[in-house]
Amino acid sequence: MKKYAVVLAAGKGTRMKTELPKCAFPILKKPMIEYITENIEKSNVDEIITVVGHKKEVFFDLLQDRVEYAVQEEQLGTGHAVLVTKDLLERRRGTTIILLGDMPLVDYKVINKVISYHTDRGNDLTVVTTSMENPKGYGRIIRNEYGNIEGIVEHINCTKEQKQIKEINTGIYVVSNSLLFKALEKIEKNPTKGEYYLTDIVEIMKKDYVVGTFVLRDSYKVMGVNDLFNISIAEKHLREQINKMHMLNGVSIINPETVTIGHNVLIEENVTINPNTTITGDSVIKTKAVIGPNTEIHSSTIYESVEVRHSLVYDSTVHENTTIGPFAHLRNGANIGANNRIGNFVEVKKSSTGDGTKAAHLAYIGDTVTGKNVNFGCGSITVNYDGINKHQTIIGDDVFIGCNTNLVAPLSVGDKVFIAAGSTVTKDIPKGALAIARNKQINKADYAKNLIKPKDDQ
Ligand code: UD1
Ligand code: CA
Repeated sequence: MKKYAVVLAAGKGTRMKTELPKCAFPILKKPMIEYITENIEKSNVDEIITVVGHKKEVFFDLLQDRVEYAVQEEQLGTGHAVLVTKDLLERRRGTTIILLGDMPLVDYKVINKVISYHTDRGNDLTVVTTSMENPKGYGRIIRNEYGNIEGIVEHINCTKEQKQIKEINTGIYVVSNSLLFKALEKIEKNPTKGEYYLTDIVEIMKKDYVVGTFVLRDSYKVMGVNDLFNISIAEKHLREQINKMHMLNGVSIINPETVTIGHNVLIEENVTINPNTTITGDSVIKTKAVIGPNTEIHSSTIYESVEVRHSLVYDSTVHENTTIGPFAHLRNGANIGANNRIGNFVEVKKSSTGDGTKAAHLAYIGDTVTGKNVNFGCGSITVNYDGINKHQTIIGDDVFIGCNTNLVAPLSVGDKVFIAAGSTVTKDIPKGALAIARNKQINKADYAKNLIKPKDDQ
């Protein structure tokens, strides 16, 4: 029997108060809809249909042809949302699991478990429920004196007594395709919100079919994300899961609640991550590196025994034994060699350095190819922009660049060059030369007294 999944993601997410539709909103920099979609892909489900409506193009963009789409032009409620899959689904024989796009913590194991349970039990409809300490906002499960499910009542429609019920509707259902649409067509508009509630299928199907429940123990996995506060809670759960996985793999994380690591980050054993650090994108951190505190790394590769402290590293590579920071900024394809030192207030953009090069303080290195063992003195700057175009600087090996030097690009500096401090270099420097590009100093004997006003009476 084929297995299908329907994911509801057509709603606006009014309670979010964001421009992006709720199910596209990022959690740990990944759109919410991708969580549930990935987990369905990992499960035994054969085909996925995603119901989209509000800003549907955003979802077409995000999910491409990973799923089929059903469009709900007007958001008339969860019952109506499932009904719009009728043309796609009714003629396909099989079982369908219905899930909500706003449940990012559901994993593929839960999906497999509830589908098997539904089939093994021979249910026609299985509703997945759980107990919540604070069930506010969720639909409540109404059971009869034998403990069988009778129906689901939405929070706003609950009586005072019903509000005490802690067992809630997770929004996950498993149902046979052949019965689903006949039941959906019987749902009537709920007068309170003027919507067609999917939850009504319980009462409708109970009349003629077998309706059962699957009670999930890990209630946090089915939390629904409705507002930005819920986003922060979902994020906290995901952060904990990811950090724990890395710690069990031999990564030492200090104060893990302040450390955020993205899903696609690879970290080797014996790495230390200090507090207030974020590592995201396709970053790779090799063994013995020390990252943080107060550091952001995005889509970058950090090699063995590198230290990055109080710094920002975006789309860049740092080779072995190099130290970055404090307060350095690498971006846009910076490629720093081994045994380098990139220190306080140094920015490196779209530039490479050879092994053993140092820029210890206050420098800007942009659009530059630098050789080995180069020393950028404090305050050295590659002047790469003339107001219209960017130009390149090429620096050889073993070059000493004195403090406060401007290297006006396009420029080429040969190997073993020495540039005097305070130079503004506009012409290429040949191998082995000493370049001095500044005015000569004049000392006027005894002249200073003409400029310094004598102090009055003290
Ligand atoms: C829903 C359930 C509630 C359950 C809770 C679990 C109903 C009526 N209520 O409430 O019993 O406890 O989820 O989290 O089903 N959507 C559409 N089209 C629509 C309306 C919604 O696609 O016309 C989508 C939304 O994009 C969202 C999902 O359905 O992803 C759930 O909608 P939401 O408004 O968040 O429902 P809840 O009020 O949370
Ligand atoms: Ca919800």
